[in-house]
Amino acid sequence: MAGMTKLREPSRANAPYDIARVRADFPILARTVYGKKLVYLDSAASAQKPRQVIDTLTRVYEQDYANVHRGAYYLSMKATEEYEGAREKIQRFLNAKHRHEIIYTRNGTEAINLVAASYGRNFLKAGDEVIISELEHHSNIVPWQLLRDEKGIVVKVAQITDQGEVPVEHVARLIGPRTRLVAVSHMSNVLGTILPVAEIIRLAHAAGAKVLLDGCQAITHLPVDVQALDVDFYAFSGHKLYGPSGIGVLYGKEALLDAMPPYQGGGDMISTVTFEKSTWAALPNKFEAGTPAIAQAIGLGAAVDYVSALGLDAIGEHELRLLEHGMARLSAVKGLTIYGTTPGKAGVISFALDCAHPHDISTIVDRSGVAIRAGHHCCQPLMQRLGAPATARCSFGLYNTTDEVDALVDALGKVREIFG
Ligand code: ALA
Repeated sequence: MAGMTKLREPSRANAPYDIARVRADFPILARTVYGKKLVYLDSAASAQKPRQVIDTLTRVYEQDYANVHRGAYYLSMKATEEYEGAREKIQRFLNAKHRHEIIYTRNGTEAINLVAASYGRNFLKAGDEVIISELEHHSNIVPWQLLRDEKGIVVKVAQITDQGEVPVEHVARLIGPRTRLVAVSHMSNVLGTILPVAEIIRLAHAAGAKVLLDGCQAITHLPVDVQALDVDFYAFSGHKLYGPSGIGVLYGKEALLDAMPPYQGGGDMISTVTFEKSTWAALPNKFEAGTPAIAQAIGLGAAVDYVSALGLDAIGEHELRLLEHGMARLSAVKGLTIYGTTPGKAGVISFALDCAHPHDISTIVDRSGVAIRAGHHCCQPLMQRLGAPATARCSFGLYNTTDEVDALVDALGKVREIFG
């Protein structure tokens, strides 16, 4: 039963979380929608931005903007220093061993595509197996299907339980002598499930396979230590981490990235070019062809500073309280079904009402100022498994309050008034 879901224990006591101060950092939270106070419960789709990130973008464009790695003049050197400085912040944030293990991409999707296109194309051959799970986002399904069509690899799918878990045994039973890569989400964007990634990584490594984690959701809710996890690749996007859109990150172990060829050619990724032959720049430039998202990378650095100052442990605890409140309040709503009741889940609640389609739910609560997402959440295979064409979904960010959860529940009352 949804209301009985056992949630994670807070990891440790933190300094009091000053939610009023946090909210004051996000200018958009002061706006109204249809004359109602905005209640933003769609951070899993994209998070709002703190003043610190917005100010950084403005400052870069007004004062410090030029192309990077190209100019022997003050502004270019300043932009380069900040762009590379942001990489160092991300390195520390993930506890990566080397700065050059952090590759800037356009988003989390591009980070996964980079691995498929470079590692996959060059190190996987026909008959080799990639294991994913049933709860994956399309961005961690389709790149492997493209590779399957091109190279003849085999994509195997670990099943979820009815609660929405991916038990280690479900992965274990798929692992065999041809398993080369396990590519799974660290946290489900639909169910909130945190996957047992440490065990999955141990298991995969014992079988000689590499592991890629899609960290797009987890990175905003949990501290991530890539060395402690011993994960081979970790992908996430900036816009869900309170940073700008248009910037994402692929972490990869140095030895793997070194062995992988570039997957896009152009400026900044070469060492030498002749018409006969080109040679590649060292990491990380080898994977960053063309003028990058300069201000966005620097903005992501500011976002990393912001969440690091609050502390992922403190953020996680705050969100757990919201989740606890949300699970209790929503499971008490008449005719409401919650999808994803795994112990230890994080701040996402997908649900359906017996009287209205998720799109109608979203449209009606929007009139009360409440922003939630409805649809298949880029997880059509998971929806098929759940037997639901779509769900409504509220997701929590570091700025949400229990009052906002209550506002959603009140707005759901209006849905029932209309649809009966
Ligand atoms: N993947 C994002 C979501 O779950 C966009 O909403």
